[in-house]
Amino acid sequence: MSIRPILILPDPKLRLVSDPVAKVTSDLSPLIDDMFETMYDAPGIGLAAIQVGVPQRIVTIDTARNDEPRKPIALINPEILWSSDELSSYEEGCLSIPEFYEEVERPARVRVRFTDRDGSACEMEAEGLLATCLQHEIDHLEGKLFIDHISRLKRERVVKKFTKAARRDGA
Ligand code: NI
Repeated sequence: MSIRPILILPDPKLRLVSDPVAKVTSDLSPLIDDMFETMYDAPGIGLAAIQVGVPQRIVTIDTARNDEPRKPIALINPEILWSSDELSSYEEGCLSIPEFYEEVERPARVRVRFTDRDGSACEMEAEGLLATCLQHEIDHLEGKLFIDHISRLKRERVVKKFTKAARRDGA
């Protein structure tokens, strides 16, 4: 296992639409293991494969608190089947937009279909932080970032800031 570099805004790869995984085999294991290791190291509660430069529909999530045992979930080809009319608001962040946080309103509950790393078809219903995290990560697979859900003024400001920083770092 190894920690992979995380792509940072405004890397254009973050805007790619990721491809479905055609077949779930053990070939995916090194990527999924690296995604968990990278996510825990950051630390973060969710990571999409495109954030480590792999445009495949794979997400890792663990919303367990620090004082709880780890609860890793790997989702392959996740799809939102249903979302509630009721909304909830969380202050979101993203490992690709370090140290920037903003309130985002999303459906409070979702039902998600996905394939797990053993190739089994699964469904889960989530609420609270997990529901927000699932929607945030599934957005990444469509090339969407949480800043797309905030005001245009705030979005333009953060994109400008990260674009300047990337130029300064010679990225
Ligand atoms: Ni993110």
